This record gives sequence, structure tokens and C-alpha cells, in this order.
Amino acid sequence: MDLKTFEADAWTGLMDAAADPHAGFRYVTLCTADTAQRPQARIVVLRECDDARRRLTFHTDVRSPKWQEMAANPQVTVLGYCHERRLQLRLAGQVHLYAAGSEIARNTWRALPSHTRQTYSGGAPGGVRVTAHQPDELTDPEAGESRFGVVILHTSRLDAYQLQRNDNQRALFRYAAEGALLASEWINP
Ligand SMILES: Cc1cc2nc3c(=O)[nH]c(=O)nc-3n(C[C@H](O)[C@H](O)[C@H](O)COP(=O)(O)O)c2cc1C
Repeated sequence: MDLKTFEADAWTGLMDAAADPHAGFRYVTLCTADTAQRPQARIVVLRECDDARRRLTFHTDVRSPKWQEMAANPQVTVLGYCHERRLQLRLAGQVHLYAAGSEIARNTWRALPSHTRQTYSGGAPGGVRVTAHQPDELTDPEAGESRFGVVILHTSRLDAYQLQRNDNQRALFRYAAEGALLASEWINP
């Protein structure tokens, strides 16, 4: 395998996951640093992938700690593992945040199904639950729009690790702001 193919395979895996809920990289770990410089990590759904510009899109609640952490420090790492491909991807870069009122958040919200909108209509994530769980029909899905945020990662570095019995492969790829490949190299696994 050459570096170009290895990199293309990695981005194909991410593109597949944005389109297919059952794909290996559908659920990835988004890692941030909090204000005390402690690492924080959580699973998020990979919603969109732009392989030409090396961008990944996630959705979240702007009241969540992760949103606050990214607003204060946009440097993040996204980690995923696809069991089928035996491939680990570690992407690092800077996130751009689009809250309610932005065109990106508005257009994305409009395209969300009602049951997904519903997830933004409750109390602030991480806050103590003050009411018993309400059945779906009692909560207004539209109430969530003001809390809905879109996170777009601009990847500046991809570390790809392919498990292959006694011949593991690992490579580093670096990208410019608009996604052009700046450098790539095989590294020791
Ligand atoms: C399978 C799975 C998928 C999830 N997807 C998302 C997601 O796309 N966006 C999100 O904000 N939280 C998602 N969560 C919840 C987060 O993992 C996390 O618990 C929550 O957002 C609070 O994170 P925070 O306190 O670090 O802000 C998901 C959880 C699971 C188990």
C-alpha cells in the first residue's frame, strides 16, 4: 500500500460513516481541554464529512460543557476506530462553532428529523434533572433550536494506524487550512 491509498482509505471510512449509521467511524470520540487543562472526552455522531476540505461536522447542545470548552479553546482531537477496517484514526485540528442565529445552524436544524430536534428541548446537558422524564408529545421540539449548535473540525493532522498482525502500518498526514495535503510520511507504529 502507498501513502496516497492509505490516506484515501481513511477518508473513505469517514465519508461512509457520515452517510451510514452502521459504519465503523459513525461514533467517534471528541476530545477537548477544559479550562483547567484537563482532558475531556465523549462520544459524538459523525454527521458530515467533507473529504476535499478535510472537515468533519458534529451537532451538539450549546449549553453543554464541551461547547464551552471549544469556545475557550478550539484545539481538539477526534479519535475513532473501525473494527471492520482494523483502522484507528486520530484527527487533530481547530473547530469552528456555529450557534443559533448562524446560517449553518439554521439550515442544519431545518433538515433534522423531529425526534432529533426533541433531544435539544430538555434541560441543560449535565444539569441536575428537575422534572421527571416527559413523554415526547409533551415537549416542543422547536424549543431546541436556540440550543442547537454545529461544530466543524478543520483537520490539520491525521494519524492513521492500521492493525495488520505483525505488519502494522502507521502514517501521518498534515493539511493546510483549506485541506490541501502539505506532507505525509510513514512512521513507526
Ligand atoms: C452513542 C452516543 C452518541 C452520542 N452522540 C452525541 C452527539 O452527536 N452530540 C452530543 O452533543 N452528544 C452526543 N452524545 C452524548 C455525549 O457523549 C456526552 O455524554 C454529552 O454530550 C455531554 O458531553 P459534555 O458534558 O462533555 O459536553 C452521544 C452519546 C452516545 C452514547
